[in-house]
Amino acid sequence: MEYSMLTVVGSQWGDEGKGKITDFLAEQADVIVRYQGGPNAGHTVVVGEEIFKLHHLPSGILYPGKTCLLGNGMVLDPVILQSELENLKERGVFPDKLFISDRAHLIMPYHKKLDELEEKARSGRQIGTTGRGIGPAYVDKISRQGLRSGDLQNEKELIKKLDFILRQKNEIFTRFYGERGFSLEDLEKEYLPAARKLLPYITDTSVLLAEEIEGGSRILFEGAQGTMLDIDFGTYPYVTSSNPVSGGVCIGAGVAPYRAGTILGITKAYTTRVGEGPFPTELKDQIGDMLREKGREYGTTTGRPRRIGWLDGVALRYACRINGFHYLAITLFDVLSGLKTIKIATAYRYGDRLLEHFPASLHILEKCDPVYMELEGWEEDISEVKELHALPIQARNYIRTIEELLKVKVALVSVGPRRDQTIVLTNNFK
Ligand code: IMP
Repeated sequence: MEYSMLTVVGSQWGDEGKGKITDFLAEQADVIVRYQGGPNAGHTVVVGEEIFKLHHLPSGILYPGKTCLLGNGMVLDPVILQSELENLKERGVFPDKLFISDRAHLIMPYHKKLDELEEKARSGRQIGTTGRGIGPAYVDKISRQGLRSGDLQNEKELIKKLDFILRQKNEIFTRFYGERGFSLEDLEKEYLPAARKLLPYITDTSVLLAEEIEGGSRILFEGAQGTMLDIDFGTYPYVTSSNPVSGGVCIGAGVAPYRAGTILGITKAYTTRVGEGPFPTELKDQIGDMLREKGREYGTTTGRPRRIGWLDGVALRYACRINGFHYLAITLFDVLSGLKTIKIATAYRYGDRLLEHFPASLHILEKCDPVYMELEGWEEDISEVKELHALPIQARNYIRTIEELLKVKVALVSVGPRRDQTIVLTNNFK
């Protein structure tokens, strides 16, 4: 797989199998960069007999010698990150070229508690967050009262800032929620030891990245979550608090817009979503149940069963436009085997109007009925197919239909979790 700069973006509601695809592509990379999100992400990567579940760390961490950067656009939970690193070390993976941006924001214990309390307070209108404190940490970043990983390099100042922040936060906990607040001493005892362990990794990653680019290194930018969970372009407010879209690379890694290189959108062969919010092509029937079981559609981070639906061509067309995908990778393709017919939504019917563009308003989206095209399915197990021509004709027709509908070439088709279960249609991403 040839490329010099490549950005991998989820084109749906996350969980598109980006972990598998980025791991596959990371073999060719010198540097792998995450640019947004935090431990809300969950990548499952299968290497031989081993299954790795990653949250902060990019999939490329499993290859020895690759430089891995956690960009400034991320929010980091030192306790979780530390246990991720320990877990890898126990299994013989030593991330000796991992670097964390000194501008990345820290998720504090009070962010997690706020996440939980805010969800409860939304009673009946929950977002279904991962409970990892993501939203409240980004709120503090934007309202300029966040703590950044670089603050750990000056603990005295950090304690002063924390003392000030806690006074405000504790007012919210005690007065508004009627809960106990946090004491500075407890945080010093329980949080700082894990946070201190990150110090050797903390640096200005944008400088490193610029040097690597200058030196001709191959760079892979790894998006977390997906386009429909983007804070600006997703199904607001049922979204995450960062920008998974390709434009997020510049802000979240500190590179110029033209550095995002080739942009590869990842889509499942069908659609899934965890958490609340409208989902026009949702299947609440036996087919949905079958796909959930076959695709092992349970969240990596929370274990929640994922909601399942047909492929949504309207949402995907929108994702293609917003991200500017050069290519697509289709994942979980093997899961569709055994279906008599397969549907793809090509438009939404809203009252007597036909919508071809994804609407911003949830009130409209909730009332939209998908207009489907139906394709013939296939019976064969395709999980060991290595070449496009060896796929059943109906499967090839499904791929061609997606290409025609979205006007984007499919470059990769994943037919199973292993690295070798990947059909390559395009070898050159340059
Ligand atoms: P948060 O990112 O924890 O605030 O959650 C906000 C929404 O994004 C919820 O619907 C979550 O289920 C969803 N979400 C966050 N991270 C992921 C992910 O990695 N995969 C799929 N959904 C996610």
